[in-house]
Amino acid sequence: MIKDIQDKIIRLKKERDVCILAHSYMSEEICEIADFTGDSYALSVKAKTAPQSTVIMCGVRFMAETVKMLSPQKKVYLANPAAGCPMAEQFDREVIAEVKKMYPDYAVVAYVNTTAELKTIADVCVTSSSAVKICRAIPEKNILFIPDINLGTYVKNQVPEKNFKLLSGGCPTHAKIEKSDVLSAKKAHPNALFLVHPECRPEVVALADYVGSTTGIMDYAEKSAAKEFIIGTENSIVQHLQFRCAGKKFYPLSKDLVCHNMKITTLADVLNCLEEGGEEIVLDEELRQQAVKCINKMIIYGG
Ligand code: 13P
Ligand code: SF4
Repeated sequence: MIKDIQDKIIRLKKERDVCILAHSYMSEEICEIADFTGDSYALSVKAKTAPQSTVIMCGVRFMAETVKMLSPQKKVYLANPAAGCPMAEQFDREVIAEVKKMYPDYAVVAYVNTTAELKTIADVCVTSSSAVKICRAIPEKNILFIPDINLGTYVKNQVPEKNFKLLSGGCPTHAKIEKSDVLSAKKAHPNALFLVHPECRPEVVALADYVGSTTGIMDYAEKSAAKEFIIGTENSIVQHLQFRCAGKKFYPLSKDLVCHNMKITTLADVLNCLEEGGEEIVLDEELRQQAVKCINKMIIYGG
């Protein structure tokens, strides 16, 4: 059954000139039919260069918006329109505009997990894999980092030469993990390396052998000589690594590390989107032009 649907999707996407992008948190069966899978940064770069006239994003809404911002001439669909990112909705433009007034000499550095509207007042965007590099590279010494306090704290610690102001947003999935979860996992698997996403709390990140994005974690585990790993990010990464690295063992840090927004997209959604079209992402042109500036800057500084 799964193979039948996958074959149909592969045939239809070629016939209809569609590029399927899938974030690494998608299921294995969706990643298999995608033209490209990766972390938020890699997907943003790919969105700009994919030659097809239509893109289906298997991920969450801000990712589809990013594709539309970078490729306004393309038709862009979010495979399941219910897939949002709670962190992206935590602050609206008016709130950040007020905070900006309090810190007029601070550059607004926005995690890409923000709405298109919020991006219109950001100076530069970052992703988990590019945040340290970009915060080091931008000329501004003062940085107002929005909205993720955990990623912001991680970057602040890595870039001590700059001044940071942080807000108190964050990812509800990663932020619920506690130090005690890590200690229990390490006790159960004493020989395993602990790999973690920087959206986790600082006391969790402090116990890690490696800190990185979803792609960073997967690359590290694949290349490492170690044989066992505790994975401190969404549990789909455990499954992907089990497929890719025969002979190695991967353990979820917690059974609660599940992003229900990422999990809502199914293979059938992708097929429906191809056959019937889904909700097309539409952005006001003035808003798009303003918001895309910080994404373009991210790609320049991110390399
Ligand atoms: P990365 O893809 O940058 O690792 O971020 C994870 C995430 O939470 C995306 O929403
Ligand atoms: Fe948003 Fe967290 Fe889900 Fe990523 S894992 S989409 S940051 S809620």
